[in-house]
Amino acid sequence: MRTPICESLGIEYPIFAFSHCRDVVAAVSKAGGMGILGALVYTPDELERELTWIDNNVDGKPYGVDVVIPAAYVGKDQGGLDEIDLEQYIPEEHKQFLEQLLEKHNIPPLPEDLPRHAGLLSWSDNMGRALVDIAMNHPIKLIANALGPPPADVIERAHGLGIQVAALVGRADQAAKQKTAGVDIIVAAGYEAGGHTGEVSTMVLVPEVVDAVAPKPVLAAGGIGSGRQMAAAMALGAQGVWMGSVWLATTEADSEPTVTERLLAATSNDTVRSRSITGKPARMLRSGWTEAWDDPETPNPLPMPLQFLATSEAEQRIRRAALGGSPDAAELTVTVTGQIVGSMNQVRPARQVFSNIIDEYLDTVERMAQQME
Ligand SMILES: Cc1cc2nc3c(=O)[nH]c(=O)nc-3n(C[C@H](O)[C@H](O)[C@H](O)COP(=O)(O)O)c2cc1C
Repeated sequence: MRTPICESLGIEYPIFAFSHCRDVVAAVSKAGGMGILGALVYTPDELERELTWIDNNVDGKPYGVDVVIPAAYVGKDQGGLDEIDLEQYIPEEHKQFLEQLLEKHNIPPLPEDLPRHAGLLSWSDNMGRALVDIAMNHPIKLIANALGPPPADVIERAHGLGIQVAALVGRADQAAKQKTAGVDIIVAAGYEAGGHTGEVSTMVLVPEVVDAVAPKPVLAAGGIGSGRQMAAAMALGAQGVWMGSVWLATTEADSEPTVTERLLAATSNDTVRSRSITGKPARMLRSGWTEAWDDPETPNPLPMPLQFLATSEAEQRIRRAALGGSPDAAELTVTVTGQIVGSMNQVRPARQVFSNIIDEYLDTVERMAQQME
């Protein structure tokens, strides 16, 4: 099952695991694939700590880092605004809506002395670059960017250090732009995917992107959780698969117990694309939260990054109340995942998920070869 991308990255199987959890990253890299740490949720100091841990626990196997430097966001033209500058753009009606929603569900305020989560995640040029600087001081083999081509100097620096650059796309025209920008690997993420996602299904997107960027390697993402789906992706011309959701239901994942329960219970029909967390469409479980934002009476979600800034404290309050056992809060909790959630019915070690995918992939390819006899 080795494809050219395996040779160029020094991995055994072309299976890429996106995760915010360092244990998943290390487990998949050690199993012969490539773990990719989602850096967005970390401050630079935290990222330094996570990557040092991975370096000490990955047995020298290749791994990567994913950042999000979007091509378009509020404040970009001013060089990326900070939280305090942006606060003024959050309308009163959004603040009132959130307060009423939390009150209706009896979600208590945060204690005065509890540290607030960072209001802004690192989806801007300046904040994303701070994470890139940290990542490039570690022996990473791949750096990925979502929501637009990585800045030219980031690509140049990566190449100078022998690091390959990947970018996530949801449309063939975006893929062509990434090729022109000098990106090495295109991740074609279809509609089914967890997190930010476009409107074209994986089945349609992957061959379009493969043709648009040939001979550049393409990884298929979105709705892949089994060896049969991996075989389909490879048949579409992908050189490998990039998976996010499946790793949420692994023993290594740091999901909260109530979140794991919801993931295991959900069907493939239970996700929606919603702008309610980041301002850009992202796939997550349908919940009291997504339904409240879908209500025609509710103000429209704000553009990136204002929506996250506006909602981050509310999210923290909801999570805290859910952890404290409030069923109302659990129902409001945001759970980012793709349609493959319907097949995630048990929690298993990441290595087992990985080897099951390979076994089923090999069985599938053999079954299809027999059909030719
Ligand atoms: C919980 C979760 C968080 C995600 N966060 C990011 C992110 O920060 N950056 C990114 O490039 N992709 C992110 N993604 C998308 C993944 O990189 C990947 O494209 C997607 O999970 C593939 O589809 P799948 O969920 O069907 O496997 C996230 C996905 C999930 C499930």
